Amino acid sequence: MENNKLDWENLGFGYHKTAKRFVANFKDGAWEDGGLTEEDTIVLSECAGVLQYAQTIFEGLKAYRTEDGRIVTFRPDLNAERMIDSARRLEMPEFPKERFIEAVTEVVKANAEFVPPYGSGATFYLRPYMFGSSPVIGVKPADEYQFRVFGTPVGPYFKGGVKPITICVSDFDRAAPHGTGHIKAGLNYAMSLHAIVSAHNNGYDENMYLDAATRTKIEETGGANFLFVTKDNKLVVPTSPSILPSITRRSLVYVAKEYLGLEVEEREVYFEEIKDFAECGICGTAAVISPVGKIVNHGEEICFPAGMEEMGPTTKKLYDTLTGIQMGRIEAPEGWIHVIE
Ligand SMILES: Cc1ncc(COP(=O)(O)O)c(C=O)c1O
Repeated sequence: MENNKLDWENLGFGYHKTAKRFVANFKDGAWEDGGLTEEDTIVLSECAGVLQYAQTIFEGLKAYRTEDGRIVTFRPDLNAERMIDSARRLEMPEFPKERFIEAVTEVVKANAEFVPPYGSGATFYLRPYMFGSSPVIGVKPADEYQFRVFGTPVGPYFKGGVKPITICVSDFDRAAPHGTGHIKAGLNYAMSLHAIVSAHNNGYDENMYLDAATRTKIEETGGANFLFVTKDNKLVVPTSPSILPSITRRSLVYVAKEYLGLEVEEREVYFEEIKDFAECGICGTAAVISPVGKIVNHGEEICFPAGMEEMGPTTKKLYDTLTGIQMGRIEAPEGWIHVIE
C-alpha cells in the first residue's frame, strides 16, 4: 500500500503491508547476520516446531514522530530483554539485545514513509518475533529458528476521545502459578481468545484475570497490566510472578514517583480491595492507559468514582506525563528515548 493513500486518523489497529522487514535465521547453533527483505511471506516445513508445538514468542513496541520531527522508539532495550526472557523459558536461542535494537532501527528507517506524522495520534507498531522453523515431531525444541521484525502503521487508540471501559472478571484462568504468564509467548494469547470472545459477546470490553491458584488476587487483562489509585492518591500496581512485566507499567511507576511525587505500592492486590479504590486503569504499549469505569463480577458491579465519561484525575496526570515524555514534550529520563532519525 502506498503511504500517501493512508488516512492516518482513520487507520484501525490492523496489518498494512509495508516496504521492508528484517529476517535472521538461527542454524547450526548460531544466528546468521540477517537483513532487510521485501518478502512478506514465509515458506515453512509442514512439521515446523511453531506449527506443531507453538514454539513462538513476540514483542510489541511503537515508533512515532516527536514534536520536533524526530522518529523515535520508547525503551526498546526492555523489549529486547523481555524477549530474551521469553526465549529462555521456551528453550529458544536468545536474540542478542544490541542486534534486536539494530533490527528494529533498520525496519523503521526502511519504512520511514509509513511512520505517521506527529499529532495524528497514529503510530508505527513494530512486531519482533521468533519461531521454531525446523521439523519437530517428538515433543522437543526445534533446532532452527527465524527471528523477524515487521512494522505496520496503526491508528489512534482512542478515536473521538478517551472513554472508560467496562471489564468483567473472567471465569477462565490466564496463567498457571508456575507457568508462562510472565513471558510473551503466542500460547498465552491462543488460550485467551475464547475468553475475550465470550467477554465481548456479553458486552464487556476486557477480562480481568484472577490468580489461578486462589482466585482472590488481581492478575491482568489479556493484554495489559492494571493500576489503581487510592482515595489518598497513592498508585497501587498489582505484582504477580504470572503477569507480563509491562514496560508501560514499569515506566508509569517511575513517572509517578519521580515526576509526580506520588507514593507507589507495588504488591499483591486482592479483589476484595478494589471497591475502595478511587481510580482504575489498564496500561500497555497500545493505549498507554485505558481508564476503567466499571468492573463486573458475576452481576456485582464495582463503579469507580471517576465514572464512565472521563479518566480519573491522577490517571490523567500519569497519562499526560508519560505521553509527554514519549512525544518529546517533557524531558525523558536518560536512555528512555531511542532516536532513529
Ligand atoms: C499480557 C500482557 N500484559 C501486559 C502488556 C503490556 O505490556 P507493555 O507495556 O510492555 O506493552 C501486554 C502487551 O504487551 C500484554 O500482552
